[in-house]
Amino acid sequence: MEFKIAVLAGDYIGPEVMAEAIKVLEAVGEKFNHTFHFNEALIGGAAWDEYREHLPKQTLDICENSDAILLGAVGGPVSEQLKPKWLNVSTNALLPLRKRFDLFANLRPAKLFPALASACPLKKEIAERGFDILVVRELTGGIYFGEPRGRDGSGDEERAVDTMVYSRREIKRVAHVAFKAAQVRRKKVTSIDKANVLTSSILWREVVEEVARDYPDVACDSMFVDNATMQLVRDPAQFDVILAGNMFGDIISDEAVGITGSLGMGASASLGEGTFGLYEPSGGSAPDIAGKGIANPLAQILSGGMMLKYSLSMEKESNAIEKAVEKVLNGGKVRTPDIGGSSTTREVGDAIVEAL
Ligand code: IPM
Ligand code: MG
Repeated sequence: MEFKIAVLAGDYIGPEVMAEAIKVLEAVGEKFNHTFHFNEALIGGAAWDEYREHLPKQTLDICENSDAILLGAVGGPVSEQLKPKWLNVSTNALLPLRKRFDLFANLRPAKLFPALASACPLKKEIAERGFDILVVRELTGGIYFGEPRGRDGSGDEERAVDTMVYSRREIKRVAHVAFKAAQVRRKKVTSIDKANVLTSSILWREVVEEVARDYPDVACDSMFVDNATMQLVRDPAQFDVILAGNMFGDIISDEAVGITGSLGMGASASLGEGTFGLYEPSGGSAPDIAGKGIANPLAQILSGGMMLKYSLSMEKESNAIEKAVEKVLNGGKVRTPDIGGSSTTREVGDAIVEAL
């Protein structure tokens, strides 16, 4: 089969890790007899240099003509945040892209590979028990997109406003994604909210509990977000699927991926109603390590694996990538510094291809 993939490598380590993911996907194509057409397009600071925009129309056109988007990372150094090239770059590039394709369900796996137990920042006993969590984050609603927003007034009366809004429809559709995912995992959904304070969370909890009735085989409970962030470091093994709104999901997915050893391990899939999806590492562009050839490419490679599974219906090809990653990690030798090794980005990519 032939597929068109929009490749948006982006900034800093983005192109470095993307090169390894493409290499791995080409190896998969060869092994399983598929042809991937990779169409590169600019996003973020890289797009700014060329078009004075962070998400140019040319890029959206390429995405529209593809089966899926593989994205690297967007953004610049904190010290340059106020320069036009980097000003609001993430929100200008990523948020409208997610919204444009209605990619409301963001899947972020956080699994502790046994070989990486020593890289886990939690206590040894907790790391040894292991964990395998899937965060399902709502991605196109909530406080990220709610109106009104903005600033008004002046002096001490100047105000800044963000609004957390959720409709029944938005909650329902992402809840279904979480329950369906749980059905083929360990059959448990923990929904995160702040229903002791926020009205949007009260609706969230009501709707999730209604949707739960359609899935009698899946256990469902709700947890306040403050408690959940604490439970995650105390006993991560209790979680299977974590369902959360946009901002709580943003926070808790970094925490969940962080305890797997490194943000450089966090893959993600952002999905809508159809098979089209956007696949990106959940970490950022890491300007501090860019150009050194030491960025961990596994999040990007595993994101490519998720793309095969969710957008291109290639379950066995996707599993082959995961197995190859596991094999390389188990080998114990080829690892980037963030997970306790001294290999380069390219050596890791080569090892995955070899393992495939
Ligand atoms: C993420 C990022 C983005 C988000 C930022 C960069 C806009 O943190 O993908 O988790 O908050 O969604
Ligand atoms: Mg985030």
